[in-house]
Amino acid sequence: MWSITRFTVVASFLLSAVVADSAAVEDPPLLPSQDPWYDQPENIASFSPGQLIRTRQVSSKLQPFFSSLPADISVESVHQYLFRTTDSIGDPVASVVTLIEPSNADPNKLLAYQAPYDSASPDCSPSYTIQDRNTLGFEGFKLPGTNISTDIPFVAAALNKRWWVLTTDYEGLDAQFTAGLQSGHATLDSIRVVLKEGPKVGLGVNPNYALWGYSGGALASGWAVELQPTYAPELTFAGAALGGLTPNISSVLETINNSSFTGLAFSGMYGQAKAYSNFSNWLETNLMPEKANKFWDAANSCLAGARDKGGGEDMYKYIRNGKASFLEPVPQSIFKYSGQMGIRGTPTVPLFVYKAVGDEVSPIEDTDALVEQYCAKGARVEYHRDWVGKHMSEAIAGSASALNWLSERMNGEEVDDKCSTKQVVLSELDPATLVTLGEELFAFLQSILGAIL
Ligand SMILES: *[C@@H]1O[C@H](CO)[C@@H](O)[C@H](O)[C@H]1NC(C)=O
Ligand SMILES: *[C@@H]1O[C@H](CO)[C@@H](O)[C@H](O)[C@H]1NC(C)=O
Ligand SMILES: *[C@@H]1O[C@H](CO)[C@@H](O)[C@H](O)[C@H]1NC(C)=O
Ligand SMILES: *[C@@H]1O[C@H](CO)[C@@H](O)[C@H](O)[C@H]1NC(C)=O
Ligand SMILES: *[C@@H]1O[C@H](CO)[C@@H](O)[C@H](O)[C@H]1NC(C)=O
Repeated sequence: MWSITRFTVVASFLLSAVVADSAAVEDPPLLPSQDPWYDQPENIASFSPGQLIRTRQVSSKLQPFFSSLPADISVESVHQYLFRTTDSIGDPVASVVTLIEPSNADPNKLLAYQAPYDSASPDCSPSYTIQDRNTLGFEGFKLPGTNISTDIPFVAAALNKRWWVLTTDYEGLDAQFTAGLQSGHATLDSIRVVLKEGPKVGLGVNPNYALWGYSGGALASGWAVELQPTYAPELTFAGAALGGLTPNISSVLETINNSSFTGLAFSGMYGQAKAYSNFSNWLETNLMPEKANKFWDAANSCLAGARDKGGGEDMYKYIRNGKASFLEPVPQSIFKYSGQMGIRGTPTVPLFVYKAVGDEVSPIEDTDALVEQYCAKGARVEYHRDWVGKHMSEAIAGSASALNWLSERMNGEEVDDKCSTKQVVLSELDPATLVTLGEELFAFLQSILGAIL
């Protein structure tokens, strides 16, 4: 049962939302940590995975950087659902998904876009940062020289194709960044709730649906497709596109020391500490006291802040016995249990996997090995290894190809029964993606890519 006080808070909040409807334009959204709409009910265990807890409609105006794109994006309505999912240790918890209806929507197409928000702060969740007049801006990797995240042009392109788009706070209400089980479960349960509730607001009853994610978003999508056969066997995805995948959290940690991505080691460790109490205790015992402030400052930031605050650090100086500490039983067990792909199952969903050979966040060998393992077990994978660029540039070059591949899946085109690996050289966008992206977004992304490479 909900406690009386919590119920009163939520009830008065809902009431004021109704009363203030016309004045709602005046009120910017509340941070998730301050917004009672996000409260998890005390009777969470009585909900089934993917069941709706509560819903609301938010402004159809998405955060302002959408409107700074050189293409019109017209959104009809935006709905949010708080739903039940399952966390990293199997307990019932709540999470949020945002469902976006484009103008003139095609009721039969639904894209589940997992954004790489990459933060252990709940206030950086996409359900908040995608809203108009939020104080942070849609989080994710920013296009150079702009405040536009790499996600925005691709979400815009999907909306322009008249696809319904959902984006999930897959890390959960307490933001367990890098926790594979939580992220995979919430991704799957977000599809469940949208398939059930979406038809009430215009989504078809039996749409084609596909998953897409890059980097942190690929972590969530990748764990989702591994867990799907056992956790959500009734779901039938048309496909899943996974870019800049991080199949092995241990090797990511080793790779990002002393780089512009080092701050993600701190927020990633904090995310795992939220998920597992033994790792939380280990971190508390092993974090060097004189480094703790700097660690928590980065770990509590959104992605851009964590990169600024932790960039270029020697992360091993933060932990008592340096690199040797990570080899102790607790971190080893957690990085494997919660951060190693390929041990929970083999995806039956057709996959498009794309990665820069020179990726400086997660070594290409890890993705090569995962794809090989999936294929040996009967998965259908089209794998593109891009010999140009790194993690950031591939988020643009490879994502354009991924959107094209997803478009074919949405249209019901079949994939090959077997796996294929293609060596690609994407020094510019594949011209085949022009039709999918539209001329304006194609030209925009092409110029950004030219500036990075
Ligand atoms: C991005 O946003 C920050 C914070 O609001 C601002 O200081 C900066 O000037 C913006 N950068 C660009 C390129 O608009
Ligand atoms: C993951 O990476 C770590 C660190 O490089 C390595 O020791 C381990 O063998 C890797 N695991 C797998 C399954 O490849
Ligand atoms: C750390 O990274 C910087 C910038 O890439 C590089 O110049 C420096 O040599 C690196 N330090 C070590 C010890 O590897
Ligand atoms: C981590 O980076 C620092 C530079 O910031 C470097 O001196 C150190 O050798 C690196 N540690 C390892 C284990 O690579
Ligand atoms: C830490 O907790 C996880 C999750 O319960 C468990 O799988 C792992 O074995 C534990 N680690 C150790 C060293 O006990």
